[in-house]
Order: sequence, then structure tokens, then C-alpha cells
Amino acid sequence: MNKAGRTIQLLAISGSLRAASSNTTLLRAAALLAPEGIEISLCDKLGALPHFNPDLEGAEPPVVKDFCAQVGAADGIIISSPEYAHGVPGVLKNALDWLVGGFDFINKPVALFNASPRSTYALASLTEIVSIMSGRIVSEASITVSLRELHLDEASIVSHPETVSVLRAAIVAFAEAIERYRLETSNEEDK
Ligand SMILES: Cc1cc2nc3c(=O)[nH]c(=O)nc-3n(C[C@H](O)[C@H](O)[C@H](O)COP(=O)(O)O)c2cc1C
Repeated sequence: MNKAGRTIQLLAISGSLRAASSNTTLLRAAALLAPEGIEISLCDKLGALPHFNPDLEGAEPPVVKDFCAQVGAADGIIISSPEYAHGVPGVLKNALDWLVGGFDFINKPVALFNASPRSTYALASLTEIVSIMSGRIVSEASITVSLRELHLDEASIVSHPETVSVLRAAIVAFAEAIERYRLETSNEEDK
């Protein structure tokens, strides 16, 4: 809970639609490990979004509106994505493209999780995409966890002390950064 007694709501977006995705597993584990006062919910809309088409801007299908509203309502976004052919998976880029024309993502605090240390190209590309979309990447909350190498599933992650401590520290650092941004913004508005 923040100082005003409000729960911090984080939206977790996985760039993988795979049922046994390591990135989704990492986000699910983060949701289980979130301390009191922080809630992490997993976005399940990416696979249902139509291909982005600028002609539909202003007349977006309901699923797109719901997705954008989820992003807009969140205090922060955690993205965890695989790398495909040295790039960001199309399904994730498609979802981000739907956010470009609106205001839901502007100044949104973003933590980038990475479940595979060798996937450096997608992470670099995602950093650039989120930055140009005016997302605020919180570096102290952005982590790389080697799930593939450790072969960790959700249950074993939450009982793996090193990974638990990295994940918890990232979540807490993210919540603290969100609070700092909120304070800065309200101070600016008071001027
Ligand atoms: C089509 C395809 C392309 C891939 N390309 C890369 C790549 O360029 N670099 C890399 O490090 N891994 C690559 N991988 C491996 C995935 O990034 C890796 O398996 C990742 O952990 C999958 O994430 P997930 O478990 O969340 O689905 C590729 C996998 C697939 C299916």
C-alpha cells in the first residue's frame, strides 16, 4: 500500500502466447511474490487484438479499447518478452502500436523483465520502442532472470531464494519509483 493507503496496481504483459512461456511464468511468479499493497494482474488480451490499422483509430474494436483502458488504469506496466529473430515478437509490437496514438501509455512507468540473458536485441529494441512512446523505463526495476537455464517453473521460482529476492527487489523498486513520479507530478500540478 502506498502512503495514501492505496494499492498500487501493476499490469503485467508477456510478449509470448506460448502456454508454457517462461516470460509468462516469470510474470505469474512476480504476481505471487508481490508484497502487500501491490497487485500484479496479467494481461490476457494480446492474442485477441486484431492487427493494428491506423484506419481504425477513433473506431477501435472493443478488445482494443479494453486493452488500452487496462494500460491506462495501471499505475505501472511490467513487460517480459522473448526475442524472435533478434526482434520484439509481432504480437507485442502489435499491442504497443495500438497504444501509440492515444494517451494511455504516456509517462507510464515501465519495468522490463527478461527471462533469457542471451536475448539482448529484443530488450534493446523494446527499450527504444517504450522510450519513444514516452513510457518511463524504471531501470532499477528492470531485471534479467535466467529461467531457461534454471528450468524454473512458477512453483519452483517462488521457492528459489535468489530469484525470489531479485523479483521482490524489482517489484518494490518499481513501486517506489511510481510513488516518486506521482509525487513529482502532483508537485508540478501544485505550482
Ligand atoms: C521463432 C523464434 C525465434 C527465436 N529467435 C531468437 C533469437 O533471435 N534470439 C534468442 O535469444 N532467442 C530466440 N528464440 C528463443 C526464444 O526467445 C526463447 O525460447 C524464449 O525463452 C521463448 O520465450 P517464452 O518461453 O516466453 O515463449 C526464438 C524462438 C522462436 C520460437
